[in-house]
Amino acid sequence: GSTLQAAAAETGRYFGTAMAGHYFNNSGTLNITNREFNMITAENEMKMDATEPSQNNFNYSSGDQIVNWALQNGKRVRGHALAWHSQQPGWMQNQSGTTLRNSMLNHVTKVAQHYKGKIYAWDVVNEAFADGSSGARRDSNLQRTGNDWIEAAFRAARSADPGAKLCYNDYNTDNWSHAKTQAVYNMVKDFKSRGVPIDCVGFQAHFNSGNPVPSNYHTTLGNFAALGVDVQITELDIEGSGSSQADQFKGVVQACLSVARCTGITVWGVKDSDSWRSSGTPLLFDGSGNKKQAYTSVLNQL
Ligand code: XIL
Repeated sequence: GSTLQAAAAETGRYFGTAMAGHYFNNSGTLNITNREFNMITAENEMKMDATEPSQNNFNYSSGDQIVNWALQNGKRVRGHALAWHSQQPGWMQNQSGTTLRNSMLNHVTKVAQHYKGKIYAWDVVNEAFADGSSGARRDSNLQRTGNDWIEAAFRAARSADPGAKLCYNDYNTDNWSHAKTQAVYNMVKDFKSRGVPIDCVGFQAHFNSGNPVPSNYHTTLGNFAALGVDVQITELDIEGSGSSQADQFKGVVQACLSVARCTGITVWGVKDSDSWRSSGTPLLFDGSGNKKQAYTSVLNQL
C-alpha cells in the first residue's frame, strides 16, 4: 500500500489519527487526514466537558461534525472518552459521592446512546491508575465514588451501545515491568473473570527520551491480548527527529504487528504543528504537511 491506511489494511489492521475541529479549516491537513487514515479519534470534541457543558444539557455539534465526516469518508471512529478525571465540566468537578456517580453514569449512557451504531470502540474509562510504583488507582473525584466506578461505567456503556467495543485506555502502561502496567493487567484479568464487559485495552503511547518505546512492548501487548481483549495503540507520538525517531516509530509498528489481536494504531494528530505537545516534533508529517522520515519508516514496516 502507498498510504498508511492501505498498508495497515493489508495486515488486517487500521491506521488512525486524532482529529480536531480546526482540521476542517485547513484543506491541506484535511486532505492528508482523508488520504492516510481510516480510523478517527476526536482530539477533544467528545470529552465530558465538550459533550455535557452544563448538567444534562448535551452538546454534540463538534463531535458530530467529526463523526459524520469520518463516516461519510468511509472511516471508522474511536470514541474518546466517556469517563475521565480530566477535562470534566466545571459542574462535575464540584460533585462527589452518589451524586457524582449518578452523573457519571448518566453521561456515559447518554453520550453512548447518542453515538450508538457509529462507534467502533469507546474509551470508556481513561487514565484511572496512578503513576509510579504503587500500582494503585489514581486519586480522583470519580475514584472517591467507590472502587467499582470503572466496572459500573463499562456496564452502562454496554447497555447503551451493545455494538461498540469497550476499551480501557491509559499511558505509561507500555513497559511490562512497570507497576502501572501490572495493575491495569490485573484489573482486566479480574473483569474478564467476573464477566464485566471489556473488549479492548488502549495504549496511549506518548513517548519521549525519558519514556522511550520499551523493548518488551510486544510482551506487554501479547500478555494483554492473551486475556481475551483486543489491544490498540491509541495516541501515538514520539518526541525527537530523524532516524532515531523513525526507529522508535518502527519499533511500535513491529510490536503491534507481532500480536494478532493488536488491531490498529492511531497517531495523536497529523502535522507536528497540530500536536498537543507544545515543544517538539512528535508526529509523522512536518508543519508543512511533508512526510517525515518517521512516516516512511512506519509505511515500510507495515
Ligand atoms: C489532549 C489534547 O490533545 C489536547 O488538545 C488537550 O488540551 C488535552 O488533552 N491523554 C489523552 C488525550 O487521553 O485525551 C489527551 O489529549 C492527551 C493525553
